[in-house]
Amino acid sequence: MAYETILLEVDERVGIIRLNRPQALNALNAQLINELNAALDVLENDRAIGCIILTGSEKAFAAGADIKAMQSFTYPDTYLDDYITSWERLSRTRKPVIAAVAGFALGGGCELAMMCDFILAADTAKFGQPEIKLGVMPGSGGTQRLTRFVGKSKAMEMCLTGRLMDAVEAERSGLVSRIIPAAELMTEALKVAKVIAGMSLPIAMQTKEAVNRSYETSLAEGIRFERRVFQSQFGLAHQQEGMSAFIEKRPPNFKG
Ligand code: CAA
Repeated sequence: MAYETILLEVDERVGIIRLNRPQALNALNAQLINELNAALDVLENDRAIGCIILTGSEKAFAAGADIKAMQSFTYPDTYLDDYITSWERLSRTRKPVIAAVAGFALGGGCELAMMCDFILAADTAKFGQPEIKLGVMPGSGGTQRLTRFVGKSKAMEMCLTGRLMDAVEAERSGLVSRIIPAAELMTEALKVAKVIAGMSLPIAMQTKEAVNRSYETSLAEGIRFERRVFQSQFGLAHQQEGMSAFIEKRPPNFKG
């Protein structure tokens, strides 16, 4: 598939998807979401890929849903076309996905970043849910995911006022895992992605699934899920390889 609104690149076992509508600060329209979803399908179906990075430009990860496209939508359009639901494809990705965010991650852009497994933020990053200023509210998970990341008080203030959060505040409040100088963002994101891609792919996928389960179930059920999956991992050759490598004082080789 030829992409017009994203760039897809592979570096060793890492797939890199770059949102690429510079003229609109990577505003998210139907074409971009379709292309993003197609690229995710390609990377998910390729066993040689162990980790995915989603990024944007230096100025914007994404400035939200495309307001120029949305402006003329009516309620029947949004309801009958189930507007936004296809954006959730990213959150169903089974392989680990890192968001590398520089510049604006606003509205749907912030929501896309939060669908990734963790966010590495450049020191230039700015996060926000400014939809209320447009006469709507966050529509791609912002009211739910931001609240889980930063707590009710801060999420409520951001969603009700549209105030943006800089990288320092985002790290302090748990929205991002780390802040990286903007010039080093992609180098560092790639380094982290290669570490993950060097692990056993099924174990990394199961680890992601178990951590995500903690958001969707009770503690007792989550721990039961973790225990069963942990026990099943002794059925994979990668457990033998990982533990033997430790005892033999050599790096593990999780290929295959
Ligand atoms: N949709 C469409 N176009 C957008 C856009 C968006 N979300 N954000 C920026 N653009 C366009 C601008 O219209 C402008 O295009 P023109 O040159 O053709 O006018 C171009 O990108 C550059 O933008 P600015 O000139 O505004 O750049 P700036 O540096 O002055 O400001 C900004 C940057 C603060 C991010 C500002 O562009 C802005 O506030 N953008 C809108 C942010 C927003 O409200 N996002 C939420 C969208 S709603 C949503 O996402 C719903 C949901 O939950 C799914």
